Amino acid sequence: MCNNLLVGKKIVEGKTNNKKVVGVVVPGIIVFGDSSVDSGNNNHISTILKSDFSPYGRDFEGGKATGRFSNGKIVTDFISEAFGIKPTIPAYLDPSYNITHFASGVSFASAGTGYDNATSDVFSVIPLWKELQYYKEYQKKLRDYLGPSKANHTISQFLYLISLGTNDFLENYFLLPQRSSQFSLQEYQNFLGRAAEGFVRELYAVGARKMSIGGLPPMGCLPLERSSRLVFGGGGECVEKYNRVAMDFNAKLMGLVEMMNKELKGIQIVFSNPYDVVYDMILHPSYYGFSNSGRACCGTGRFEMGFMCSKMNPFTCSDANKYVFWDAFHPTQKANSIIANHILHTYLSVFLP
Ligand SMILES: *[C@@H]1O[C@H](CO)[C@@H](O)[C@H](O)[C@H]1NC(C)=O
Ligand SMILES: *[C@@H]1O[C@H](CO)[C@@H](O)[C@H](O)[C@H]1NC(C)=O
Ligand SMILES: *[C@@H]1O[C@H](CO)[C@@H](O)[C@H](O)[C@H]1NC(C)=O
Repeated sequence: MCNNLLVGKKIVEGKTNNKKVVGVVVPGIIVFGDSSVDSGNNNHISTILKSDFSPYGRDFEGGKATGRFSNGKIVTDFISEAFGIKPTIPAYLDPSYNITHFASGVSFASAGTGYDNATSDVFSVIPLWKELQYYKEYQKKLRDYLGPSKANHTISQFLYLISLGTNDFLENYFLLPQRSSQFSLQEYQNFLGRAAEGFVRELYAVGARKMSIGGLPPMGCLPLERSSRLVFGGGGECVEKYNRVAMDFNAKLMGLVEMMNKELKGIQIVFSNPYDVVYDMILHPSYYGFSNSGRACCGTGRFEMGFMCSKMNPFTCSDANKYVFWDAFHPTQKANSIIANHILHTYLSVFLP
């Protein structure tokens, strides 16, 4: 992989102070976070931030628009599949599934949410504390279903994937006055870091032991952010300031992970960093078989996402596999599979049996 550009900034990641536990099978994957990992929870709440309509999901099994923000599967689906569990992870609020399905993995994620409660308020989506509340309700159902002793063991063996933070900056801090007048950028990162730490501690307190905290992507290169440059007369290049914030915040999360591994007995937590692989796809799309990384497939590829990315939009590309981005904010299924592979081999391998 061509990461030469990042030499010097690259940090040692994916280490835990625990040895790899050989032979322990992960019985399921439990997901918390935002649209990067929401498999359809927002379909069942009142928000405009939805994707349960065509062309979303057009390359998913059956061409179904599940509420995933992509043309097909998302990163957590590929990870579940690679662990030999199941090919997709259902959304907790989807009434067509029940505990028999959720016992082998479930997503509590909600597109548009963040570590900061004020972020989830922007589009009236599920705040992180509520995702945790749903998870506690799920634990009760799992104890009824498996029996308390087996359920408790299963809860400790599940792999918990946490992926959010982009919206705290792009949908909240850099856009709205409340947090940016209250906190400096550094203070806001500390505030989010404390929220992330509090979340991990709460998960740990209710029995979770194997966890991954996802880092931020190079969010200044999302087509929507690049387009803001076009409006101001630029050439649509990446917003370097946002990329630096992503790297700073990632370093903070990594420090947090090191600290938790030392402090919390029996925890095995890794920091899964998608930054380098996503940046590499953006810089060298042809190396991965893509022809375009600056614009998205949907619509003009510059700003459409959610309801703007509709079947009525005549500009949508015909082959999403040629694009890194599906809509102006989210990767295609093909990019998701590359990200998942990278994360699996670089960070999650300690959890593979
Ligand atoms: C769960 O759904 C399946 C159908 O997919 C059904 O057969 C089963 O009875 C349901 N189980 C519970 C506990 O509701
Ligand atoms: C399961 O875990 C819960 C919560 O920690 C605890 O109250 C309960 O006693 C445990 N049950 C068994 C059978 O281990
Ligand atoms: C978010 O709100 C919940 C519920 O009111 C509260 O318990 C939690 O501390 C808040 N989190 C942050 C980071 O402000």
